[in-house]
Amino acid sequence: MKLTRRKITQFGLLGLGGLGTLPAFAVGAPAAQPSLKILVLGGTGFLGPHLVAHALSRGHKLTLFNRGKTGGTPFPEAESLTGSRAGKLENLKGRTWDVVIDTSGFAPPHVRKSTQLLAPNVGHYIYMSSTAVYPNFAQPGMDESAPVLDPDDKELDVFQRYGANKRKCEQIVASAFPGKSTAVRSDTIVGPGDHKHFRYTYWVRRATQPGTILGPGNPGDFVQFIDVRDLAEWLVHCAENAISGIYNATISPASYTMQGLIQDCQKVAGTNAPIEWVDSDFLLAAEARGIPFWSANRGQSPGVGQLSNEAAKLHGLKLRSRLTTAQDTHAWYQQLPAETQAFQSALSVEREQELLAAWKKKAMQAA
Ligand SMILES: NC(=O)c1ccc[n+]([C@@H]2O[C@H](COP(=O)([O-])OP(=O)(O)OC[C@H]3O[C@@H](n4cnc5c(N)ncnc54)[C@H](OP(=O)(O)O)[C@@H]3O)[C@@H](O)[C@H]2O)c1
Repeated sequence: MKLTRRKITQFGLLGLGGLGTLPAFAVGAPAAQPSLKILVLGGTGFLGPHLVAHALSRGHKLTLFNRGKTGGTPFPEAESLTGSRAGKLENLKGRTWDVVIDTSGFAPPHVRKSTQLLAPNVGHYIYMSSTAVYPNFAQPGMDESAPVLDPDDKELDVFQRYGANKRKCEQIVASAFPGKSTAVRSDTIVGPGDHKHFRYTYWVRRATQPGTILGPGNPGDFVQFIDVRDLAEWLVHCAENAISGIYNATISPASYTMQGLIQDCQKVAGTNAPIEWVDSDFLLAAEARGIPFWSANRGQSPGVGQLSNEAAKLHGLKLRSRLTTAQDTHAWYQQLPAETQAFQSALSVEREQELLAAWKKKAMQAA
């Protein structure tokens, strides 16, 4: 089966309603031989539609399993099964698939249920994990052998609990599918269609707005993420080539900076507002938390933005240019309805201007 771009655009409209289309899917790749039966646990949020579009364009037979609450039914070519990871798994019983790609496993008991049920009938289980399994980025170039959070630690905060649960899920999957599982430790996923997190999109939008831009930390601070299409294509590559193991999925270490990110967003927006770099200690003291891609504690985490992706690249991960990510995300953002473009972010324009004024005042007092 071949998916045309026109069809994909229609699916994007159908699936996302007021959220706009999903441009720049990776379509038109030659069909894979043989065609695989792939079950996606999830599939209708952000990563899922890109993954499903790419797998369909490669000629695979797709089944999506979810509760039917998110995103509608964007892919009529794919079989759709309704149920819940929390316990309503009846629709998966007695079925066989070559590969499962699990994009919706957060709670260890849910992942245990699905792996127990599917292990006898599935050849390969690919689990979407996260770089949040690492308690910190203690040094540059950390690979998959770096220490991870202890799932049994009772003293974890909410974000650490997310990472520890992801680690526990990795362990559950690996023991249910010995030698036939893949844990993909994804960095922040960015690109067209991110109507949920709006992290990278914060900078895409900010670049379209007037006024001095608050640059958090230092211009040379390294940042990492992964384009959703690179991730989707690589997940399908892992399925096609039975690639197992644990992999960091991210752009290359020390290859991109906060300044590069903001300037690429300005380049594609055709703007050039000045960037005022504001010291991290000042931002911390002002409780300006959650600015996308700003890492407040680089002192304790000097390896931020420098996680190794060597293993994934050796196993076929391909990365498009960061400018392409900026261009396509900008194009997607531009066609969103105004109410969606007005998403809430950790740093509103008003708060940004307030912080910039306080920063300038401090600098004048110090002069
Ligand atoms: N976003 C990031 O920056 C980032 C970074 C690192 C790792 N990750 C990981 O990447 C994965 C991708 O997330 P995504 O949201 O883009 O994936 P997605 O597959 O596009 O969307 C999530 C899917 O899960 C389904 N779902 C949610 N709860 C469910 C339940 N109880 N039972 C069955 N289905 C359920 C949703 O549909 P219904 O609501 O209709 O059930 C939806 O189809 C996640 O595992 C996440 O931890 C994300």
